[in-house]
Amino acid sequence: MKTVLVTGPAGFIGSHLSEKLLSLGYKVIGVDNFDPFYSRDIKTDNMENFMLNPNFYFYELDLCNNNSLDQLNHEIDLVIHLAGKAGVRPSILDPQSYIDSNISATRNILDFMRIRGIQKMAFASSSSVYGNNAIVPFTEDQNVDNVISPYAFSKKSCEILNHSYHHLYDLDIINMRFFTVFGPRQRPDLAINKFMSLMTKEEAIPVFGDGTTARDYTYVDDTVNGIINCCEYLFSNQKVFNTLNLGNSFPITLSTMIETIATTSGIRPIINRLPMQAGDVNQTFADISKAKDLVGYTPKITFVEGISRFVKWFTQKQSILTVA
Ligand SMILES: NC(=O)c1ccc[n+]([C@@H]2O[C@H](COP(=O)([O-])OP(=O)(O)OC[C@H]3O[C@@H](n4cnc5c(N)ncnc54)[C@H](O)[C@@H]3O)[C@@H](O)[C@H]2O)c1
Repeated sequence: MKTVLVTGPAGFIGSHLSEKLLSLGYKVIGVDNFDPFYSRDIKTDNMENFMLNPNFYFYELDLCNNNSLDQLNHEIDLVIHLAGKAGVRPSILDPQSYIDSNISATRNILDFMRIRGIQKMAFASSSSVYGNNAIVPFTEDQNVDNVISPYAFSKKSCEILNHSYHHLYDLDIINMRFFTVFGPRQRPDLAINKFMSLMTKEEAIPVFGDGTTARDYTYVDDTVNGIINCCEYLFSNQKVFNTLNLGNSFPITLSTMIETIATTSGIRPIINRLPMQAGDVNQTFADISKAKDLVGYTPKITFVEGISRFVKWFTQKQSILTVA
C-alpha cells in the first residue's frame, strides 16, 4: 500500500482527492490548519465521508510553522501539496499571508521531503500565473512573468522554488496548473457557489464587468483524476520536473455561467453589475495537449453536466440545513 501525504484535505479539492485516493487503496496522511479563510464547519463537513476511514490519518497543523511536520512518523512515498491560501482578490488585501501560507509553507514541505528522503511531489499551481497573456489557449511554455496579483506571484514563486529543489536534491516534481475548479463543496468565495447562495436567498449577485470575461471551468472529478494521473506518472518515472495545465480547454463566459445556473436551478438571478475587479484576468483557456500526452489527462464532464451535479448537491445540502 502506497502512502501519500495530502496537504489541505479539509479544503474543496483536497477533500475530493483524499476520498478518491482512499477508495483506490492508498493510505492518506492529511495535514490542514483549518485556515479561517472560510468556516471550519464547512471544512469539517468536507471530510465527513472519510475522516473515520482507518487508512486516513489527520493532523491539524500549520505548514507555516517550521518543524510542524516533525510529528509525522509515517513512511511517505509522495506528497500532494494543495494547502495554501487561494483566491485572487483577498491576496491584494493581504499579500503577506499569501507569501507565508503559499511560499514559506511550500519551502517547509520541500525541506521536510529533503530531510525525510521523500522523492516525489505533485504541486497545486494555478492558471492565474498566465495573467492576461494574449495568446490562447495557454501553453505551458508561455512566459509567465507578467502576473497581475500577489496570489499568482505566490504560485509562480512556488513553481520556481520547486525547480530549485528538483535541481539540488533530485526531487521529482510536477507543477499542476488548475483552472477554476467547480463542483460539490466548491469554496464559498468562488462565483458559482456564491451566486447559487445569493440566488437562493433572492439577493442580488455581484457581476463584475460586462459578462464577457471567461473561465476554463474544470469539474472537480476531472481535476482529481488528473492529479492521480500525475502521481502515477511520478511513481513510474525518475528525474521528473514538469508543468502541466489541468484545465478543460472549453472556456465559458460569465454570462453563460450565470444563465446555466439559472436554467438548471430554475431561479432567476437579480444582477448587480459592477466594474471589473483589479487582479482579475480577462480569460483563462488551457491547452491540455501536454497533460494528455504525458499523463493521459482527459477531462470528461461538460460544464452543463457539472453545474447540474453542483445544483443537485447544493439543493440537498440546503434541505438538510432547513430540516436541522
Ligand atoms: N479551486 C480552484 O479553482 C483552484 C484553481 C487553481 C489553483 N487552486 C489551488 O489548489 C489548492 C486547493 O484549492 P481549494 O479550492 O481546494 O482551496 P481550499 O481553501 O478549499 O483548500 C485549501 C486548504 O488548505 C488549508 N491550508 C491553508 N493554509 C494552510 C497552512 N498554512 N497549513 C495547513 N493547511 C493550510 C486550508 O485550511 C484548506 O483546507 C490551493 O493551493 C489553490 O490555490 C485552486
